[in-house]
Amino acid sequence: MKITLFAPLDMHLHLREGAMLRLVAPFSAAQFAGAVIMPNLVPPVDNADRLDRYRAEVLSATQPYPFLPLMTLFFRPYDAATLQTLRDQIFAIKLYPEGVTTNSSGGVSDMAAIEPTLALMEELGIPLLVHGETHGFVLDRETEFLPIYERWARAFPRLRIVMEHITTAAALDLLERYPNLFATVTLHHLMITLDDVAGGLLQPHLFCKPIAKRPADRDALLAAALSGHPKLMFGSDSAPHPIDRKEAAFCAAGVFSAPVLLPMLVELFERHDALDRLPDFVSGNACCIHGLTPPSRIVKLVEDPWQVPARYGDVVPFAAGQTLRWRVVD
Ligand code: NCD
Ligand code: ZN
Repeated sequence: MKITLFAPLDMHLHLREGAMLRLVAPFSAAQFAGAVIMPNLVPPVDNADRLDRYRAEVLSATQPYPFLPLMTLFFRPYDAATLQTLRDQIFAIKLYPEGVTTNSSGGVSDMAAIEPTLALMEELGIPLLVHGETHGFVLDRETEFLPIYERWARAFPRLRIVMEHITTAAALDLLERYPNLFATVTLHHLMITLDDVAGGLLQPHLFCKPIAKRPADRDALLAAALSGHPKLMFGSDSAPHPIDRKEAAFCAAGVFSAPVLLPMLVELFERHDALDRLPDFVSGNACCIHGLTPPSRIVKLVEDPWQVPARYGDVVPFAAGQTLRWRVVD
């Protein structure tokens, strides 16, 4: 059996820089026609020069694949002149609350103070992508952030707001209430719960922000993805860290899923008899929501079992050691 997907897109991807970028980017470019590239580098991607150089580095690392990097800018309280200049170079702006995740120390600490920039983004048609977590109790952080999404969705009805990597049934419910709210969800949050991370021996390679939640949340997210929910887009949040930053005290947050994404998505949707919904989840919804026209590229998968390696370079992938049934073919 063979499966073909037209222009799959990964709407939330961390590629890093330098040697790590060159190691991980080919996995994404082999499977996806494009991806939304996260700006949380050190220092963050927050000006035209850095943006241009980072795009060039990504394009060079994804050769020879036709791959569209949808570049994002790290949120700052930008003024009108800056945003007007940058508008055509970016897909969106990514907002991190200060200190909530990897490389977010330069994030926003006062959500009320940034509304003038949100108003400018609304006017210029720049989407706002949000890491929506507070500093509250770890299982409640996403839910505690939901009122902030609501406030922005009401105050800026023409601003396209994407709730990134949602992990709760409550976030899904909010999607229904505001036409300008959208969401991405990862592969791992469709599969795992907090038990997989910390219910037995600690599994650092499944530790990420937001942390995986309860079975009811995972099940609600999976049901929404399998049903072809039109406001829900696939975004892997593949976030590589070297093994010595994961298998360590102060383990870094991030799951490196890039090498296994399409094989595991196909297996998951197939198992639930929902393969017909996969094209919209991995491409169609994002194209509709954002008006995207990715490179017209067909990605093929064949049934040909393979074992996920224990490591790629010094990074441990999601599902390391597992046998997957589907393989992407060039
Ligand atoms: C991401 C990273 O490592 O950059 N980590 C993560 O746990 N998801 C940042 C992020 O998206 O939160
Ligand atoms: Zn991320």
